[in-house]
Amino acid sequence: MARVFVTRELPGRALEKLAAEHDVDLWAERDAPPFVDLCRRSAGAEGLLCMLTDRIDAELLDAAPGLRAISTMAVGTDNIDLSEAARRGVPVGHTPDVLTDTTADLAVALMLAAARRLPEGEAAVRAGEWGPWHPGWMLGRDLHGATVGIVGMGRIGQAVARRLEGFGVRLLDARRDGLERLLDESDFVSLHCPLTQGTRGLIDAAMLRRMRPEAILVNTARGPIVDAGALADALAAGEIAAAALDVTDPEPLPTDHPLLSAPNLIVLPHVGSATHATRETMADVAVDNLLAALRGEPMPHTAYAGELG
Ligand code: DGY
Repeated sequence: MARVFVTRELPGRALEKLAAEHDVDLWAERDAPPFVDLCRRSAGAEGLLCMLTDRIDAELLDAAPGLRAISTMAVGTDNIDLSEAARRGVPVGHTPDVLTDTTADLAVALMLAAARRLPEGEAAVRAGEWGPWHPGWMLGRDLHGATVGIVGMGRIGQAVARRLEGFGVRLLDARRDGLERLLDESDFVSLHCPLTQGTRGLIDAAMLRRMRPEAILVNTARGPIVDAGALADALAAGEIAAAALDVTDPEPLPTDHPLLSAPNLIVLPHVGSATHATRETMADVAVDNLLAALRGEPMPHTAYAGELG
């Protein structure tokens, strides 16, 4: 029986399965453990089950020399120094595949919500601004027949592309067609690449300037891929029509963040994979990865640097 530190309550019954084999130390608070607690509680552990909000770097690994396995309940691993873990022979597991469709659903929902101005329409009804039907009121943009650019054609990007076939869109793929052409021609730009050194700040002021004034930017990948200040400026200047974000930099986004004053912006609190079924399956996969590694077996889902979601 190994000691395992789990940094948050898990949905479903995954924790029971883990506790049946190992001694579980659970961080039961809603907020993530501060880094000092993460190090302290990991110190005597052989297994660590963490979340995307936990920083797993050389300092943490130094503080927890007994770690034999790390498992994150996420597909993205940008919070984990994979090469440091590999250098110390600590396998890292993650949860690909099981959240692909749920996240792709949300990306399409955000495209439609921004294009058809759903939050604005709903707010207008509640504010008593719904006057007589008017042919020019609340006009939006069509997703069907549009040109959609996908940046990051991994599992989730491909799942978005499959859904969009039903909308009769013309698809552009940054890898195949080039990012600059994609930005020049797309009505919707949807981000699905992992956060790496190469994608941090990828969508900056210059890239936003390339986008069409009618274009809508959707980000369900990672917040730092977009320069938040440049996006706020681009929206304010009307350089692009709207943005719909499920991820921001930082997270949570403070209520006085300049981005929240920008027009035509939808922001969600990083809920791409947040359905009951998907989160329970992610927890199961995260536990299965940890159990396998602690038994000395290969993890069912080992994370590799730069892997696409
Ligand atoms: C992930 O898994 O990386 C998502 O961002 C959260 O589900």
